[in-house]
Amino acid sequence: MSDDFDRMLDHARQALEHAHAPYSRFRVGACVRAASGRLYPGGNVENASYPVGQCAEASAIGAMVTGGDRAIAEVVLVTERSEPCSPCGRCRQQLAEFAGADTPIHLCGPEGLRQTVTLGQLLPLAFALRETPGESAE
Ligand code: THU
Repeated sequence: MSDDFDRMLDHARQALEHAHAPYSRFRVGACVRAASGRLYPGGNVENASYPVGQCAEASAIGAMVTGGDRAIAEVVLVTERSEPCSPCGRCRQQLAEFAGADTPIHLCGPEGLRQTVTLGQLLPLAFALRETPGESAE
């Protein structure tokens, strides 16, 4: 775990507080640390048209790309569930666009860290069109 973990968890918790989840009432907060060191939080954003909703990881990734970063070094996820909650399948693929198999993903609850896994554990044999995640295809 990096020295940035506590700060990342603070950001993820704040993103959870700002999540828009009136339909599921399941709030998720994420924070990605880019290779540059910059931190990007994101929360889930649901919609009255349910499939239109966006996961917390997607919000954080969107903020990162918008901020000019392309490589994810570490991820923190926080939920209010009693058991560890890991990213959904779609989010795993979205993370794989910018993170490598060794990238740590810290699964947290209200009390703090519960479990750390790597993206490679969550998404073995990930589909990719480029060798190095986060690098331009050109
Ligand atoms: N959710 C996330 O934000 N990330 C995940 O990886 C799994 C699910 C959100 C989507 C929806 O707003 C709520 O959790 C319940 O599924």
